[in-house]
Amino acid sequence: MDGSDPSKTLSDALVVFGVTGDLVHKMIFPALYEMVKKGVLDCPVIGVASSRWTLDQLREQATDSIGQAGTIDDRDALNRLLSLLHYVGGDYNDTETFNSLKKALGKAGRPAFYLAIPPSLFATVIKGLGDAGLAAQARVIVEKPFGRDLSSALELNAVAHSVFPEESIFRIDHYLGKEAIMNILYFRFANSFLEPIWNRNYIDSVQITLSEDFGIKGRGLFYESAGCLRDVVQNHMFQIVALLAMEPPAYQGYEAVQTEKAKVFHAMRPLSADDVVRGQYDGYRNEPGVAKNSDVETFCALRLFIDSWRWKDVPWYLRSGKNLQVSAAEVLVELKPPPQRLFDDATPVAMEDRANYVRFRLSPGSAVALAARVKTAGEEFVGDQRELYLQNDQQGQERPYERLLGAAMAGNRSLFSREDAVNAAWAVVDPVLKYHHPVHPYEVGSWGPKQADALVEPEGCWHNPKREKGAH
Ligand code: BG6
Repeated sequence: MDGSDPSKTLSDALVVFGVTGDLVHKMIFPALYEMVKKGVLDCPVIGVASSRWTLDQLREQATDSIGQAGTIDDRDALNRLLSLLHYVGGDYNDTETFNSLKKALGKAGRPAFYLAIPPSLFATVIKGLGDAGLAAQARVIVEKPFGRDLSSALELNAVAHSVFPEESIFRIDHYLGKEAIMNILYFRFANSFLEPIWNRNYIDSVQITLSEDFGIKGRGLFYESAGCLRDVVQNHMFQIVALLAMEPPAYQGYEAVQTEKAKVFHAMRPLSADDVVRGQYDGYRNEPGVAKNSDVETFCALRLFIDSWRWKDVPWYLRSGKNLQVSAAEVLVELKPPPQRLFDDATPVAMEDRANYVRFRLSPGSAVALAARVKTAGEEFVGDQRELYLQNDQQGQERPYERLLGAAMAGNRSLFSREDAVNAAWAVVDPVLKYHHPVHPYEVGSWGPKQADALVEPEGCWHNPKREKGAH
């Protein structure tokens, strides 16, 4: 599934817009440090931001960020990274900023521009790069959310294409760089036992939960312009759905996978207000940057249908939220019960007891579990509910940003989203961005508003992932 093109050359500089921001502090410096350690990054790294920082400040920030993310176990690598850093400060609307960037790039002729900036600035920066003549031979890596609805995504794509060809645009969704999520594609198509049952004839419903036990962590301004649906559902969660629902790619290769994923988004039924329950945790409106009367959702549960041959009438339930009971991500694919009840205890008594399912633990940890009932010793035909459990945590895994930045700089597009897929995903959520019911308040540490339970009632109840790694 390699999307690399051997004719592509490596980027010879990495330019990080928004280098003083939160994302870069939390994720990007640690990723760059790992890349330097492994010898993958050896070119100038130019940070750009509107703050008037000095290079020393940037170096301090990088060191602090790497220290906070883990231990600094390779001083030489840290020093190498610090020596690669450059800083350009200036307004993104000012052509001078881009002229300074041009100077800082020096002889580098194939830079990768990574836009770790608020989505509202993407178009300005992309145009600035084009106007300054910096786009030829370059790549642009754009953070999610790509647009804030269908029309802005189309607009943004038009701007991006006026400056960069599609093969030079890398739309990042860091979920695509996670091992456990890449394993969904591999596990489904490297094994033959799932395929016969992976359809509407055997599958009752699918649930995906992506829960976090913390709030918006000071990102009030961003969150007010996004909300849960835009922040994680339209991108991270839909990508998981696509990998679970897609048809086998017709051949080995990046385009084949992208095409099948895009088809899933095209087959998704556009959501309506009654398909979605929006929630807001108590106290959200007191967070800095949040409006006192905010109707932005910090929780979202939805029912989705994929109107394809394989999935017709199978409900997909997606749920995500901040300040929920645990931080975990799990998929539960519930199978239909056996056609006949041959044993008295074969049908679970309580709603939350599920007898037949496949469970993908995506975080923390990575595991696949297959529910099975087994007979308890004795004369009677009664049994216990167990799991065939496959833990797949491996040491030394590359983390998503390390993997994705490395891939983009090498011109490998396999872990990035294609334009048609992003637009089709927006088309599904677009109606409920405009027309939705008001948010329901929920308690911090709960599983969200109780109205979300009614959504899944026809199938039973939500599956609540456990806190511990992979546990059930
Ligand atoms: C980001 C969202 O894209 O993904 C955050 O902006 C969210 O709000 C995060 O917390 C979740 O990512 P992860 O890798 O921690 O599951």
